[in-house]
Amino acid sequence: MFPKSTYIQRREQLRKDIGHGIIIIQGNHEAPCNYPDNTYWFRQDSSFLYFFGLQREDLVGVLDCDNGKDYIFANDYDINDIIWTGPLPSVKELAASVGVENSGSLKDLQAFINNQIASHQAKFHYLPPYRADNIRQLSTLLGIKYDAVRSYASMDLILACVKQRSIKSGEEIEEIERAIATAYNMHVGAMKMAMPGRYEYELAGFMQGEAWKGNGPVSFPVIMTIHGETLHNHNHDHKLETGRMLVMDAGCETAMNYCSDITRSVPVGGKFNDRQRAIYNIVLAGQLECIRISRPGITYQEVHTAVSRILAQGYKDLGILKGNLDDIVANGAHSLLMPHGLGHMMGLDVHDMEDYGQINVGYDNETRPSEQFGLGSLRCGRKLQPGFVVTDEPGCYFIPALIDKWNAEGTNKEFINFAELEKWKDFGGIRIEDDILITETGCRVLGKPIPKTVEEIEATMNA
Ligand code: GLY
Ligand code: MN
Ligand code: MN
Repeated sequence: MFPKSTYIQRREQLRKDIGHGIIIIQGNHEAPCNYPDNTYWFRQDSSFLYFFGLQREDLVGVLDCDNGKDYIFANDYDINDIIWTGPLPSVKELAASVGVENSGSLKDLQAFINNQIASHQAKFHYLPPYRADNIRQLSTLLGIKYDAVRSYASMDLILACVKQRSIKSGEEIEEIERAIATAYNMHVGAMKMAMPGRYEYELAGFMQGEAWKGNGPVSFPVIMTIHGETLHNHNHDHKLETGRMLVMDAGCETAMNYCSDITRSVPVGGKFNDRQRAIYNIVLAGQLECIRISRPGITYQEVHTAVSRILAQGYKDLGILKGNLDDIVANGAHSLLMPHGLGHMMGLDVHDMEDYGQINVGYDNETRPSEQFGLGSLRCGRKLQPGFVVTDEPGCYFIPALIDKWNAEGTNKEFINFAELEKWKDFGGIRIEDDILITETGCRVLGKPIPKTVEEIEATMNA
């Protein structure tokens, strides 16, 4: 945990920003896997972690904006729990450890809420719950129908949380860099294993082990695939073969649940062939362009478009695209080879705050999402500010089904050389991803550099 002053200050800021009413921030509960006592590893809710820092299940935090009091509600454990778990701090002790002076049981919480409802026109603020048990808990506490709970989530609270959590403090950056240090071990170790005859699951398993060796889980299911043209390919069954690119998109969480999200793409066997090197260097040039131009004041939508120009020029040089570069990018023809956005915010969630609704995190009144294929998938488009942590993750994917569809429809046919593209349909995909911090003057790639150029990757794989 951070020092308790961090959580006190965050809650004070939140109460100030909301001004009036009761804020309810629910922690997560245990989630059964195949029977009630066999649970998935516990993952605390990120908003709860941000404002209360506590890892125990079943906690509910409450902030009273009118009198400045904070509360934590949960039931204490008794001896029947403790014989299985060992000694556990009381709810009161847990609350005190993060500077919360008031605590009570879940029955006390219901009484507190009832009292608020009865005594005056209380305004309740809560975030959109994403787990069924938390929807049900709010439904019971507030007397709202289960299906209506999400629609009453507080936009004021969402925006106040986005405002605070978007700007990472020095101590948060240290945690994120700790997560990237573990991701370094995951990626460099897996690169060295990427030899013909191995199976994807061996490398994916290695990465998960390295993540836990850093004292946390992976930050999302590992993507480890020789079919990187499938953007989020979670299948790990294939045998590695020379001639395939292996896309490794994986990160981890620290013990405090700060994340990393790194992608490296490597040639199975450790030597890029000419086609692989050509595409790789185009994607790398795009990835470096993002690092070159990202700074406060530019929107990430503009950065995405600038990166798109680099990629499109590269594909033009290879004869895959044709025509005027401005027109190619304006019409989104390059998106055939990159149907996703350049990146997203990252912090306590790998896609930070996505539970608040992506549009509320990545966009604002000034910058609205594009409706164009590709650019429309950009998760964070708004103006960059110092303290933002975003991913920089361009890619190139030859997706046979999409190529065939556009070809049949004639989509962007004036800009695409479909005959040439036929030769690339067996290529697979490449993605390169780093996590960057927006600074006062530009940006900084976080963490110890992970081999990224063709030369660095070949040297690492053949060491
Ligand atoms: N790992 C998913 C992503 O890079 O966004
Ligand atoms: Mn990723
Ligand atoms: Mn990412």
